[in-house]
Amino acid sequence: MMHNGNSGGLNAPFPTGFLWGAATSSHQVEGGCTNSNWSAFESARDAEGRPRIAGGQVAGDACRHWYRYPEDIGLLAGLGMNAYRFSVEWSKIEPRQGAFDEAALSHYERVVDALLTAGITPMITLHHFTDPLWFSEQGGFAQPGSPEILARFARKVYERLADRVCYWCTINEPSVYAVNGYVTGEFPPAEHDLRKAGLVLGNMLHAHTRMYQACKEVNPAPQIGIATNVFVFAPYRRGHPMDIIAARLAQRNLNDEFFRYLTTGEWDFHFPFMLRTRLRSMPADAFDFIGLNYYTRFHLQFLWHDRTRVRSVHTAPPEKTTDMGWEIYPEGLGEVLEMAAGVTAKPLYVTENGIADDSDHKRAPFFLDHLRALAGARRKGIDVRGYFCWSLLDNFEWAHGFTKRFGLYHVDFATQERTLRRGSAVLRDFINACRAT
Ligand code: FCB
Repeated sequence: MMHNGNSGGLNAPFPTGFLWGAATSSHQVEGGCTNSNWSAFESARDAEGRPRIAGGQVAGDACRHWYRYPEDIGLLAGLGMNAYRFSVEWSKIEPRQGAFDEAALSHYERVVDALLTAGITPMITLHHFTDPLWFSEQGGFAQPGSPEILARFARKVYERLADRVCYWCTINEPSVYAVNGYVTGEFPPAEHDLRKAGLVLGNMLHAHTRMYQACKEVNPAPQIGIATNVFVFAPYRRGHPMDIIAARLAQRNLNDEFFRYLTTGEWDFHFPFMLRTRLRSMPADAFDFIGLNYYTRFHLQFLWHDRTRVRSVHTAPPEKTTDMGWEIYPEGLGEVLEMAAGVTAKPLYVTENGIADDSDHKRAPFFLDHLRALAGARRKGIDVRGYFCWSLLDNFEWAHGFTKRFGLYHVDFATQERTLRRGSAVLRDFINACRAT
């Protein structure tokens, strides 16, 4: 199947119908998102008067994907892709509580129709980090009513599109939203309150279940899952008991308990002497697939004197490190797929995997090595049915602004010109080879 000398070990059986795609999120690419927690955050300052985003940038027009989506669908097709994961912008669809914007809903209908016409399968994410201002002003996911509010929004979008969209993710990366928003302060509302992070995370998991139920009532046929970040955690100092405990606690609370919630409806978020939050007797199995977003491995060091008790230490040499400072650890993709396959027999999708690499030297080997890990997982019988690269385009990378370039296509933000990166060509060739067999 593959004739490329670099691709040894890649000739795994990817069946017809395997989803080969790229992913984006509304706030990061669309432009014109002016009514959300993120738009407010971008113009805010921290206590010392510093901007929240690198260089004081704002998402602004971003990639103008709102207008340029027809061209961007062409870019997906140019990579041989047959799938596209994107999110709908809640703050545009429900700009005021309970008031749904017809024009915004029709816009997404047009995007879906254009994808289908191009032979590209849409996967919609309903919530990808951004909340309408009214929701965050009410307390966001810290408010007890948040799961119902999300369920109503989900139902509205689903009613409109479920006849044409077969794949849905309720929420993207709840634990990143909770940890970055309420522990590290890198995301809005920039709080440092572990207890609140637990509360928010619990409500987000609950919201997932309510969204799933509300949508299934409308139409049970489409596949509905959730996209979770799964990191590999390792102790920084091998054999150091406290670092080992730190890595185990992270694995337990951020990975294992997430999967346990989905499969059993029980969740126990527990950091000894610091925090314990639980969900009990929630409906089990409220998902049709699990989406895994995989990027890196973290080496954790326990700190006695730090408020959060733990930090992640960069250990990889520069050639194995991305522009985000993240270790390139392709084996980890196999490890997280095994982790998920160990808890469910339902299908898995890699809903994000990619690299910020402005120099473009590391992109090609990054993708080849991760595809090798993906192929290895399939050979072991793991039911992974799709692979979405993050991201189709360079875009607004949250607190890093436009400084981190994850795009398969380079974007010149002055002209909006998109150019295929040299390092992305291997991916295109690989996909085309797989789809040709
Ligand atoms: C993930 C997010 C996505 C993007 C990538 C780099 O955590 O889902 O929006 O920021 O990281």
